[in-house]
Amino acid sequence: MRLPGRFEWKVLGAMLAVAVLAVALSAYALNFMVRRFADFSLEHDARMEGSSARAADVFRSYFADRKDVFRRRADEIAADAPARMADLARTEGLLRAQLLVGTEVVDSWEAPAETLNRSREAPPILVALPAAQGEPPRALELEFGIPAQMYQDFLALRAAIEQDQQIHRAYGLLLPRFLRQYLILVLAILAVAPLGGWLVARRVTRRVARLHRAARAVGSGDLSVRVAPKGKDELDELGRAFDRMVGELGQTRSRLEYLQKVSAWQEVARRLAHEIKNPLMPIQLAVQEIASKYSGNDPAYRRLLDTATEILREEITGLRRLVEDFSAFAKLPKVEPTPLDLVPLVEEIVRLQPEWQSFVKVETKEPVFAPCDKLLFRRVIANLVENALQAARAAGREPQVVIRVQRRPERERAAILVDDNGPGVPEAERQRVFDPYVTFRPGGTGLGLAIVRKIVIDHGGDVSAGEAPAPLHGARFVVELPC
Ligand SMILES: Nc1ncnc2c1ncn2[C@@H]1O[C@H](COP(=O)(O)OP(=O)(O)OP(=O)(O)O)[C@@H](O)[C@H]1O
Ligand SMILES: [Mg+2]
Repeated sequence: MRLPGRFEWKVLGAMLAVAVLAVALSAYALNFMVRRFADFSLEHDARMEGSSARAADVFRSYFADRKDVFRRRADEIAADAPARMADLARTEGLLRAQLLVGTEVVDSWEAPAETLNRSREAPPILVALPAAQGEPPRALELEFGIPAQMYQDFLALRAAIEQDQQIHRAYGLLLPRFLRQYLILVLAILAVAPLGGWLVARRVTRRVARLHRAARAVGSGDLSVRVAPKGKDELDELGRAFDRMVGELGQTRSRLEYLQKVSAWQEVARRLAHEIKNPLMPIQLAVQEIASKYSGNDPAYRRLLDTATEILREEITGLRRLVEDFSAFAKLPKVEPTPLDLVPLVEEIVRLQPEWQSFVKVETKEPVFAPCDKLLFRRVIANLVENALQAARAAGREPQVVIRVQRRPERERAAILVDDNGPGVPEAERQRVFDPYVTFRPGGTGLGLAIVRKIVIDHGGDVSAGEAPAPLHGARFVVELPC
């Protein structure tokens, strides 16, 4: 596995720092909030506890007071010595009364059921009644009551206070445990977060690292490297821009090398033309002289002389044409482009060649403007069409050529496509055919395409050979000019 680079370490460090900071801040905030809340609720509890304890005390003192009142009332009743228990029915708070003689109940009274239901009995009070000598002791058993609702309220208050105390005790135990668990969770997150961060960051940093490696390769002269990103984010856009740039750099380099090569060949052509041209004239004169000076009448020798003169004349004409070609190639003028619509230009070039009318077709859709040197561009089209014509004829076919002029706005280029129905250019030769003196045609000098490419490159564009799609199936030459 590749070790992370410095950039990757920095991203990782940043992610870890952010994670630690976020978790630490949230832990601090949580701790602060829990403590504030605990303080607040403790204060509240203390206040509540105080007031509920006081409320319970109020109940208790009320009960104690009632007890005293009932005792006093019992003593007063005993002092009155009522004759019948039913006479006590109007006594406030009394629920039951019994007159006991010895252990025997001799009279009794009870409040109506409705009153009994609404009341809560206090413990019964036993008071002795004065008794004559020798008679069995007499006593009253009185049972008073308080409103049942009040007693229930007291019970509920007491239960609430107890519950509150229990919660309070549990709270003291639970809070530290809760904070401890939270701390463990935070530590676990901190242990896992860098790993997750690393995995996420790696996707980004890996692509940056690839870009970095590619840039280094380009720096050391390798223009074949490509990043070839698949995604759509900014980094992929950057990768694509990088690929485009390296591609253009490669093309520029190949064009410069080509121009250097062509310039050397132009020098060779100039010298060759010069060297061949000079002796041509004396040779031609000498041949004429030999032919005219013979006055003998040997028919065999005369025939030999005529044949030799004919051959020499043909060869001299061929050499003259070669000299012309070489000179034309050597003296290619400087390109002087002016912006113009390529469509009428191409149509005019084709129209001015009467012998092309039967097989060259121009297909266009819209005006295509590009800076172009009219005179030199005529030679570009002428060379391409001548080649197409020769290739188709050599293959024994009736020639067909289609020229298309197109706009390629995505590359800011104008394109001229020349398709034919010849045998096409073999893939292995598609680069080489543009080199000067490369020819596969008997009688060819191999300068046509060199001139084409030189002129197109001087326009700031380039030309390439490919395969024409159906229905022509032959070669396709694409000339691209900046527009
Ligand atoms: N349209 C084409 N179809 C097939 N082959 C082609 C086509 N155009 C060029 N070629 C090949 O490329 C070679 C180089 O072409 P180029 O025009 O440079 O030279 P040439 O035609 O051989 O000679 P010249 O143009 O100087 O008379 C040709 O010999 C031919 O083999
Ligand atoms: Mg040619």
